[in-house]
Amino acid sequence: MERAEFLNKMGLGAMFALTATCLGSCSKNATTPSGPVDFSINLNDAANLALGTTGGYVIQNGVVIANTGNASYAAATVICSHEGERQIVYKSSGSQWYCSAHGATFDINGKGLNSNGSKGLTIYKTSLTGSSLRIYS
Ligand code: FES
Repeated sequence: MERAEFLNKMGLGAMFALTATCLGSCSKNATTPSGPVDFSINLNDAANLALGTTGGYVIQNGVVIANTGNASYAAATVICSHEGERQIVYKSSGSQWYCSAHGATFDINGKGLNSNGSKGLTIYKTSLTGSSLRIYS
């Protein structure tokens, strides 16, 4: 059966259902922000004040940026690898990334620590120059 013949037999309703399914799940399954990550933030900006405290974190450009202590920072995608929810946060207790949707937990290097985190988490590099923190792939 040719593609055009198949689509004709399926009808417009079935085509819409297939398209709607893909649009809903395909975009949600992305586990990283689109395109390469490379941006800098100023730690002195009011929006980034949480990074002045160990365990504090901010979310910018689809990336969770955390102060891990001793003037060190870590960054990970906000998009969970389990079901694509944008609910990754940093938990200073245990230095872990955590998804509040279904409890996926990852170590600071993105390694999954439970079944919902088994696919791991995308981690980004950080580099501090003065008060400018660069986050990059
Ligand atoms: S989407 Fe994060 S644990 Fe399910």
